Amino acid sequence: MWYLCVFYHRLLEYRKPEFESLAGLFEGRSGPTTLEWRLPEDHHPDSPFHFVNLPSEEMARDIASRSILVKGIYELWGEGRSFEELEEAINSYPDDRKLLYLAPGTTFKITVESFGKAISSHEQSDRFQKLAFIPFKGKVNLRNPEHRFCLMDNDDYGDNNGLPPIVKRRIFFGREVGASDRKILQTYQLKSRKYLGPTAMDAEMAFLMANQAQVKPGKLVYDPFVGTGSILIAAAHFGAMTMGADIDIRVVRDGRGPDCNVWSNFKQYGLPMPLSLLRADNNLPPWRSGLKEVFDAIICDPPYGVRAGGRKSGGRKLLKGVIGPYTVPDDKRTDHIPSTAPYSLVECVHDLLDLAARMLVMGGRLVYFYPVLREEDSPEPTFPEHPCFELIATCEQILSYRYSRVLLTMVKVAPYSEEIELAAKLKHIEFKENHLKWLEDGNLHSAVFSPADVQINGTGEKFSSKPKYRGKYV
Ligand SMILES: C[S@@+](CC[C@H](N)C(=O)[O-])C[C@H]1O[C@@H](n2cnc3c(N)ncnc32)[C@H](O)[C@@H]1O
Repeated sequence: MWYLCVFYHRLLEYRKPEFESLAGLFEGRSGPTTLEWRLPEDHHPDSPFHFVNLPSEEMARDIASRSILVKGIYELWGEGRSFEELEEAINSYPDDRKLLYLAPGTTFKITVESFGKAISSHEQSDRFQKLAFIPFKGKVNLRNPEHRFCLMDNDDYGDNNGLPPIVKRRIFFGREVGASDRKILQTYQLKSRKYLGPTAMDAEMAFLMANQAQVKPGKLVYDPFVGTGSILIAAAHFGAMTMGADIDIRVVRDGRGPDCNVWSNFKQYGLPMPLSLLRADNNLPPWRSGLKEVFDAIICDPPYGVRAGGRKSGGRKLLKGVIGPYTVPDDKRTDHIPSTAPYSLVECVHDLLDLAARMLVMGGRLVYFYPVLREEDSPEPTFPEHPCFELIATCEQILSYRYSRVLLTMVKVAPYSEEIELAAKLKHIEFKENHLKWLEDGNLHSAVFSPADVQINGTGEKFSSKPKYRGKYV
């Protein structure tokens, strides 16, 4: 059945992939799901309103209550360009779908929402009046109604409501089948977290990453660049067992003292502690000690040398030209911290894909950020590939005029083997030569740290080329 999905006007490229990942997560109960999407008449892909075909109301409810970017999902009773058209549509919606929810003895609540503008209580009651033709026989209950309805539109406010100007006004009325709960974002907001670092992942993004990874109770989730543990906290909130690693011993062992470290962050929210936090190097990963396909998801924000520079173990040896995996000498096994050397984007991505290919279960997901330049002369972004993985989603978040990060979601579709290891190396060399070199040759760093050219208009004022509607900037 088709439902009206209303998204928040945020992180626009993340909305459908999150929805689709959650549909996959909940499909077990309702059978396999292939989603179809449709836009309302005269709307644009950046619109908050989308129609989606779902197998059951139960799935709609599950998705909405878990999602970060879905505001609500509705059984649409009618839509139109004007209230007259809306009334006609609601009247012709089948009675057998309506009467149950209008029956005597039921309780209900109607809310009025207008996209891109707060409406006055006067305007609200005016709109309620326009729904007087619907034969509600139940009682209004504002606190705990059995049935909720919503009248929604994107009113005509010129081109200043955050949407592309081509989007025309459309009014919708529907019965709510599921609504989101963004209260978790308040609970987990960084400003009230005890142990923080300069690159701690914000709560909204950490939950989105966990949703992309289809985290659920009983799954084992690994973050090889765990830092302050923000991503694993989101995974643990959704019931996963967690495990993390970081090259920085101060991060995983000490933090800022006995009550201010990764462990205390988990304690602060009453979440189960990680199974382990390792001092481990992404290029000396746990598979070397015999662990094989154990993780259901690997979720991380790798150090690309932008804000947190990547490091790898074996600094002095590497400088002396010793190639091959660094091993801690036997006599230094206790309390030894290897020296480190810079770790390039190329190596980091290669090692991450290799680690994920070896250690994820089949169907497991790798969810991670990848940096992208947005300048006019930057080549179209190309993303790393690996024969074990299918790339299923790329979601850009613009961080400045010149620099973005893209959340990549990859699914393991083939088991690891020696042939695959070789094929992956070839793919990696090709990628390194053709795409990564350019990004590494100082271009990424300068895009982030040097000031953007500011244009001056005829009146001498500074202006930017920011589009009128907020699009991907939200
Ligand atoms: C972008 S931060 C991750 C922040 C983390 N998501 C958080 O919420 O706090 C990258 C982390 O990777 C670690 N790191 C750098 N090089 C590494 C390597 N070769 N292996 C493992 N961790 C590394 C850094 O110490 C840093 O904590």
